[in-house]
Amino acid sequence: MLRIAVLVSGGGTNLQAIIDRIEDGTIRNTEIAMVISNNKNAKALERAAKHHIPAQCISPKDFENRDMFNKVLLDTLLDLKVDLIVLAGFMVVIPPEMIRSFRNRIINIHPSLIPSFCGTGYYGLHVHEAALARGVKVSGATVHFVDEGTDTGPIILQKAVEVKTGDTPEVLQRRIMEEAEWKIMPKAIDLIAAGCVKVVDGHVIIEEETA
Ligand code: GAR
Repeated sequence: MLRIAVLVSGGGTNLQAIIDRIEDGTIRNTEIAMVISNNKNAKALERAAKHHIPAQCISPKDFENRDMFNKVLLDTLLDLKVDLIVLAGFMVVIPPEMIRSFRNRIINIHPSLIPSFCGTGYYGLHVHEAALARGVKVSGATVHFVDEGTDTGPIILQKAVEVKTGDTPEVLQRRIMEEAEWKIMPKAIDLIAAGCVKVVDGHVIIEEETA
């Protein structure tokens, strides 16, 4: 059984997709050990409670400094003995100690086709604003492992989504969530749970499942 922690900050629609796909058996052999939010008002926490999933808020605001927050977050994840940390709209910079402790065991969903519209300052709606400002005809989403850079880790899955005339950032965001994010994030977790995802020389190789 793959034990995962899902880290969230806001609406939690990606968390919901993960919960739904575990419940309907699309994600196999996986349990959510804990949902952690940095924001006590995150709707994601309500979603976890509704499904009787343990959840807690660990907010930088409750600590004297960032190092103390980082330590409590890491200690909590180590105590939980999770196999995989899933960043599902977690708007907090991941400290290097956590990346070292969970090398190739932290995944993130980013709402564009990396390497477009990613890196510092590109998160949430800003990503879609930038894509529309550039006039791209295709955008999408990416699931990747987290390394020391911002959105630079090995790419696991990507899915393209059409940009349509008249799209607003909100409309494009919703289409990318529906058509890409809510599909590829659960798929990536299922593949990792099945032992099909390997990182070789900084690139992801997805192996066929042996029945
Ligand atoms: C999602 O669109 C996710 O891709 C994005 O935040 C949103 C969270 O929505 N993440 C980033 O921008 C990370 N750089 P959710 O809380 O409804 O899942």
